[in-house]
Amino acid sequence: MRILITGAHGLLGQKLALVFGRETTHQLLLTDLASRTFFVSDRFDYQQLDITRLSDVKSMVSHYRPDIIINTAAQTAVDACEEDRLSTWRLNVDGLKNLIIPARRIEGCRIIQLSSDYVFDGHHPPYTEESRPRPVSYYGKSKLASENALLASPVDGAIVRTQVLYGTGYEVRMNFVAWVLAQLEKGEPFRVVTDQRGNPTMADDLAYGIYKLTEKQCSGVYHVTGPESIDRFSFARKIAEIFNFDPSLIGPTTSREIGQAANRPPDSTFITLKFETECDVRLSDVETGLTHLRQQYRQGSEHTDLLSDGRFL
Ligand SMILES: NC(=O)c1ccc[n+]([C@@H]2O[C@H](COP(=O)([O-])OP(=O)(O)OC[C@H]3O[C@@H](n4cnc5c(N)ncnc54)[C@H](OP(=O)(O)O)[C@@H]3O)[C@@H](O)[C@H]2O)c1
Repeated sequence: MRILITGAHGLLGQKLALVFGRETTHQLLLTDLASRTFFVSDRFDYQQLDITRLSDVKSMVSHYRPDIIINTAAQTAVDACEEDRLSTWRLNVDGLKNLIIPARRIEGCRIIQLSSDYVFDGHHPPYTEESRPRPVSYYGKSKLASENALLASPVDGAIVRTQVLYGTGYEVRMNFVAWVLAQLEKGEPFRVVTDQRGNPTMADDLAYGIYKLTEKQCSGVYHVTGPESIDRFSFARKIAEIFNFDPSLIGPTTSREIGQAANRPPDSTFITLKFETECDVRLSDVETGLTHLRQQYRQGSEHTDLLSDGRFL
């Protein structure tokens, strides 16, 4: 099989490259905005691709003829989405449409689209794949529109909704766990919201889950997250505990107090039974995922050979 991954330099993109490189013999074409990649393995090809440029996307997809496109590229900074709506739509919605247009002409080509718990309002948990979406942020609206674009198209594939992604990677954007660790390292008290709750998801696990979905050729919407729901404050204290910091440095606050630009769903707890049953996989719970992450930070990664300057994933 030929697999094209967009946003391959992002957190999930890096993990997908590693999982598909390890678990399969498929051809892998990694793409992202950068002109060069830090991946050095012969296992991957890399090409620059901006998914908002329809003519570039058309020519790459029609030339490579992928069996699967995994679209991780997105504007993921939720507050920035609120402020720059036009660019958010161009990337999160039109970017996917640009992939769908040439994919329609390739027989059997499937698309895996990443989506989010932010398609829900967070007032009616727990959420299944059949629950009614009602986004309360522009990011959430753009993700829901992308889901609908794929579902309404003739291209087969899967929507993967995930949340609170964490992990370590090469020059990846700040995620919640990395932010908490950075605060703890300063040794000064800080506060975390108690009124946002969801299922933390280790990026390595999510990549493995997506690999299983592709192997089983699953179609439709899937909730793919860690099995455990926890509020951000308790999660932050758990991070402190697992990484041997003082949990009492972390105090409680509320979303209203910190005044984020975009609204967040207060509780987007997911039911992940459909994915777990069809793929026979259960992702790590909070304790297991954080312990695994601590090992990765301590030991470096088994994947150092894939990176040009020896930094670990
Ligand atoms: N992170 C979460 O907690 C979370 C939760 C739910 C769902 N998701 C979804 O999961 C997916 C992956 O998330 P992630 O955290 O891995 O994202 P990420 O780390 O922000 O990675 C996104 C990648 O896409 C690239 N990109 C940006 N604009 C692009 C364009 N026009 N064309 C091609 N590539 C472009 C980015 O490059 P630059 O860095 O150079 O901009 C980056 O390498 C996203 O679709 C996100 O919406 C994430």
